[in-house]
Amino acid sequence: MLNHRHDLMYGDIKLFSGTSCEPLSQKIADYLGVPLCGRTITQFPNENLFVQLKSSVRGQDCYVIQTTSRPVHRNLMELLILIQTLRLDSAARITAVIPYLCYARSDKKDQPRVPITARLIADFLEVAGADRYMMVDVHAGQIQGFFSIPGDALTAYHKMIKYLTTLKPKMQDPVVVSTDLGFAKRARNIAAKLDIPLAFIEKRRVANDSKAEALAIIGDVKNKDVILVDDEIDTGGSMVNAINLVTKMGAKDVYVNFVHSVFSNDAAQRLVATDVKEFITTDTIPIPEASIKLFGNRLTILSISDLLGEVIARTNRGISVGAMFNE
Ligand code: R5P
Repeated sequence: MLNHRHDLMYGDIKLFSGTSCEPLSQKIADYLGVPLCGRTITQFPNENLFVQLKSSVRGQDCYVIQTTSRPVHRNLMELLILIQTLRLDSAARITAVIPYLCYARSDKKDQPRVPITARLIADFLEVAGADRYMMVDVHAGQIQGFFSIPGDALTAYHKMIKYLTTLKPKMQDPVVVSTDLGFAKRARNIAAKLDIPLAFIEKRRVANDSKAEALAIIGDVKNKDVILVDDEIDTGGSMVNAINLVTKMGAKDVYVNFVHSVFSNDAAQRLVATDVKEFITTDTIPIPEASIKLFGNRLTILSISDLLGEVIARTNRGISVGAMFNE
């Protein structure tokens, strides 16, 4: 962590956590060497939420850490209400730290009479009083354009690449495979950093019901170890199809990398039933203990706490974040 001190334009760091990812928030607090600030969050019998801060934040630099995974609407409302509470208590600056942004897949009108819900979420955050945002591996880069406040769209893939680099010497002729064309550019960057070839799966969604079909592979995986990459696993449909396809095409060991473990329905069980050698993910979304047990030693969870902690430290001091990644 940085230890040189500049003038703090927005006061000291005040970290607040919603209830969605308290262990991650605590790790961020530990990295920064500051405590999580006290707050109460109560749900009334009518399901309305009530928030109260335990101490004043007047003139301070506040960060609200809340991931917007399941229960999505409760977690989202907690985040919005926490932000408004800080605003009303005269915080100098409020940053919404959102490891996983809900509704990010609703980012365009790709069929008639549909919403762009990611835009609505960006508006909610700004109306609540956020001055900045921090997000990790948001589904599509252009979502940044839905915000008129500044922010940091971060990626956990730097961390994953570092980890994969340690595995690479044990791999046989590895190739990065993107599970769909939407992730192709990011997959290309990952392959370039690992200095290995790249292949793509052409996946076509057949309906709005989260069923996907992996159709074809562009590139060569025969007799190679495959590193599958994606931003998230939701129902597991895309990834299981991808695993089956590369296996059918003659891949050897398969390593599955994804940032967000959304794990809807029986995704964990479906993944565990495959022959994948290792699943590599992060803690942007807490994974239930039961699922962790299911995966056993095939699951590696890389924490993004130091990434978020460092970006918070730099934001507070007004120091470049790009410099962390050599721009
Ligand atoms: C979609 O474009 C994303 O990158 C993921 O591939 C998708 O969210 C995974 O969803 P599921 O696990 O339900 O197939």
